[in-house]
Amino acid sequence: MDYHNHFLSAAFAGVCLALSPLSAAESPAIRSGDVWNDTDGRAVDAHGGGMLFHEGTYYWYGEIKQGKTYLPDVNKSWGGTRVDVTGVSCYSSKDLLSWKNLGNVLPAVPGDPSSDLHPGKVLERPKVIFNAKTRKFVLWFHSDSLNYAAAACGVAVADAPAGPFEYLGSFRPNVATWPANVTDEDKKDPKTPLVRDFEKGQMARDMTVFVDDDGKGYLFTASEDNATLHISELSDDFLKTTGKYVRVFPGRMMEAPAVFKRAGKYYLIASGCTAWEPNAARSAVADSIWGPWKELGNPCQGEKAEITFQSQGTFVLPIAGKPGRFVFMADRWNKNNLPDSRYVWLPIAFEGEKPVLRWMDRWSPK
Ligand code: DGJ
Repeated sequence: MDYHNHFLSAAFAGVCLALSPLSAAESPAIRSGDVWNDTDGRAVDAHGGGMLFHEGTYYWYGEIKQGKTYLPDVNKSWGGTRVDVTGVSCYSSKDLLSWKNLGNVLPAVPGDPSSDLHPGKVLERPKVIFNAKTRKFVLWFHSDSLNYAAAACGVAVADAPAGPFEYLGSFRPNVATWPANVTDEDKKDPKTPLVRDFEKGQMARDMTVFVDDDGKGYLFTASEDNATLHISELSDDFLKTTGKYVRVFPGRMMEAPAVFKRAGKYYLIASGCTAWEPNAARSAVADSIWGPWKELGNPCQGEKAEITFQSQGTFVLPIAGKPGRFVFMADRWNKNNLPDSRYVWLPIAFEGEKPVLRWMDRWSPK
């Protein structure tokens, strides 16, 4: 994508391209599904990622997906498609269009097979939040074993957005603690994941972190064998969970949670659970982060709405300085060649309280 031409033409035209589709004659801005090049001319490599806006700059963190894609028949111990862990990328931008590669901020540790950061492990869905009290940048990600049995959270911390991040380790949240909304029925059956994992901590796979207006942090995880989302409170320094958590959407098999707040309400957009294949997104709203959450259905409308325009969400970005405007960030996974996975970014519209996503070939966030 030729971002420079876009800026020149947009500036020349002197127009405000307010979240509107651009005609074919205009230089494109965000073109979902295309290869997006960084300022060095290399394809942006930031999958399953998240965004931090800090002091006037956007920082985009994501999974570096490089090297060979191991297909299920080669990699029998898992049966899924994967690449080796390389680390977490970080790109910066002032305008969401031109991305500078700031490097690998949490590199893999090839020499230590026991490390969570060994190439043979799983590192997915990295998200960075800034803690205003400690002035630290805290990176959370889904840390797993090759067979996805570890189902844990990895945490790293840095003094600056582009690191270097110090890896603190991985853990299962909410050890020996019942969720605040547990019922007697929930506690009964030792074969249910909630009860089975009570002592060693709850499973945590696809995840995101969210910082509320009051500075409190929350962790959303696909838990209980991916069947049920858990929302956990973060400690004041954002480095741990406090033990306060709730189960939401029991049995709904939600992955890829993305959370945002609009006009005092909390919103969730998530996917279903179909590995690297796209499925229909779901949306939900709540007055309190702890729920109750009300499902609002598939936010996508139009052709390919049932497969989220061939993508899976990863984050919802509030556009800085534009209250009420959000970007739905998603991955168009290429399961046969994961490094060639692309990005789908769409503006979120609202019909009443329901978030709505419609395909746009090209649009500008300005
Ligand atoms: C779906 C998840 O959303 C991805 O992050 C990844 O874990 C794939 N499953 C692996 O199949």
